[in-house]
Amino acid sequence: MAETNETVLVTGATGHVGRHVVAGLRDVGVRVRALTRDPAAAGLPPDVEAVPGSQLEAPGLRRHLDDVSAVFFMLPGFDTDALAESVRVVGDHVERVVLLSSGAVHDGVPASEQPGTIAHAHAVVEEAIRATGVSWTFLRPYGFAVNALEWAESIRSRRPVELVRPEVAAAPVDERDIAAVAVRALTEDGHDRARYELTGPELLSPARQLAIVGEVTGRDIAWRERSAEAWARTLLGPDTPDEVVAGMVAGLNDRPGARTDTVARVTGQRAHTYREWVEAHTEDLTGPLPPVSRKDTGHVLVATWRVADAGSQRAAAAAAIDDWRDRPWPSGLLAHSVLLGTDGHTLVHYSQWTDEAALEDFRRSGCGARNDALDETVPGIERLDAVGYRLYREALPERPFEPGAVVLVSFRTDSAATGERFVDELLLRHPVTTGEQSPEGMAGNHFHIAVDGSRMLNWAEFATVEAHERVVADRLQADDDVPQLVERTEGLEPIGFQRFVPYRTVYGPPAD
Ligand SMILES: NC(=O)c1ccc[n+]([C@@H]2O[C@H](COP(=O)([O-])OP(=O)(O)OC[C@H]3O[C@@H](n4cnc5c(N)ncnc54)[C@H](OP(=O)(O)O)[C@@H]3O)[C@@H](O)[C@H]2O)c1
Repeated sequence: MAETNETVLVTGATGHVGRHVVAGLRDVGVRVRALTRDPAAAGLPPDVEAVPGSQLEAPGLRRHLDDVSAVFFMLPGFDTDALAESVRVVGDHVERVVLLSSGAVHDGVPASEQPGTIAHAHAVVEEAIRATGVSWTFLRPYGFAVNALEWAESIRSRRPVELVRPEVAAAPVDERDIAAVAVRALTEDGHDRARYELTGPELLSPARQLAIVGEVTGRDIAWRERSAEAWARTLLGPDTPDEVVAGMVAGLNDRPGARTDTVARVTGQRAHTYREWVEAHTEDLTGPLPPVSRKDTGHVLVATWRVADAGSQRAAAAAAIDDWRDRPWPSGLLAHSVLLGTDGHTLVHYSQWTDEAALEDFRRSGCGARNDALDETVPGIERLDAVGYRLYREALPERPFEPGAVVLVSFRTDSAATGERFVDELLLRHPVTTGEQSPEGMAGNHFHIAVDGSRMLNWAEFATVEAHERVVADRLQADDDVPQLVERTEGLEPIGFQRFVPYRTVYGPPAD
């Protein structure tokens, strides 16, 4: 089909699977029309024709089917009457439909007798497609790897993740693999009337899946069990009838342990592992902040850059992160984060290394070439300083939340012992120790001592920049307790603080 001038209509084109279907079709030279409720917000490539509409509204859909030879059809909801009507409209216009169905559908069982809401809705649409007489392929994936994004809010807020049936293994499938199968079925012959059951390559319990997220992103992520009923009710809404909730739970218990090699058979490429899926979604799962508390960090480098204006600041941050795509990841670098100063000129790099020797190796071998490349991409970077630290102690809030700002508070010290003594004293006064209520919006404090003993750095996290402004106004005036402690600690001299918002963090492979 790639040689013809025909168009493929992709529904759900801005979704997890649809976005990759669009990309895959473009890669093989197929013209794509993308259906979305809001073309202006769709963020699709300019050569993709984004058209307004939804597969839940057949009359509008009809307008976009001229010249369309094949449709990728997905269910954005379970209004089966509306979906069946759209399928009839599609069937009148096109030759081929590839349906994103579900592994919950049981073959040989009429739609009305399928177990649960999900199986029922997909079976209705399958039946409607079969009735049109078009060439069809049904993709029946089991649980998506992308369902783990449900955990993101808890992970980012450092709260325990709620896992449903934490020990029951499944083989989560990567949305890129579902899309790759869809692209084959949309563009090649030989998939007519195929029902492809799609899974990932490995059986992993949710607890193990979460542990992999922790391994890739350097975090200890706690979890607790959540009942399947509570999960289903949250997903379906509080007014959902009990039998519908029970149907969803039944679907969850259906065919555990399914694993197929269909992705590899259809595409000729092995399916992505769960770890690869996590690596592609680290920021979605954990946000832009580094795993400051990570235990395997032996050395932290905090490097400060200055650039001319806010445009160069973002350009330099983007270049510093993107550059890793083009060069080998240094051995011993665990994670590299960039933060943007609220002054519009400063950038801070926070890089976590297994040990100082690994950083020194990189300085000898790859650092110069990287700096040259970055200077060429963003001229005018001024490298102010780079200080090596070790994390000394932390104060983590009892009721954690996702921080949106980081304040770096620096002190000059005459020795590491001075820095440590000051931190110990400070922690005795800290709300986490005294049991007092923390100031609103104050999250964790992570105290770092310079390897050469010359500095102490407090990496202080806040909900927002404004939350820090309030703390300064309310608690850090000259006669307040902490400024007094700074004043009377011998060998300690405040340098000042700078406010930042996190930009991005990238991770290396786990250390051996
Ligand atoms: N998650 C699983 O484990 C799993 C397993 C098997 C099968 N499935 C099936 O896979 C499908 C989900 O695929 P996906 O994750 O790629 O989809 P998705 O990302 O959740 O959504 C795809 C697109 O649908 C549109 N949409 C959302 N709500 C809508 C609404 N109320 N009316 C009209 N359009 C709406 C949105 O596009 P616009 O905003 O651009 O219009 C969205 O980008 C579902 O049918 C699901 O049952 C899921």
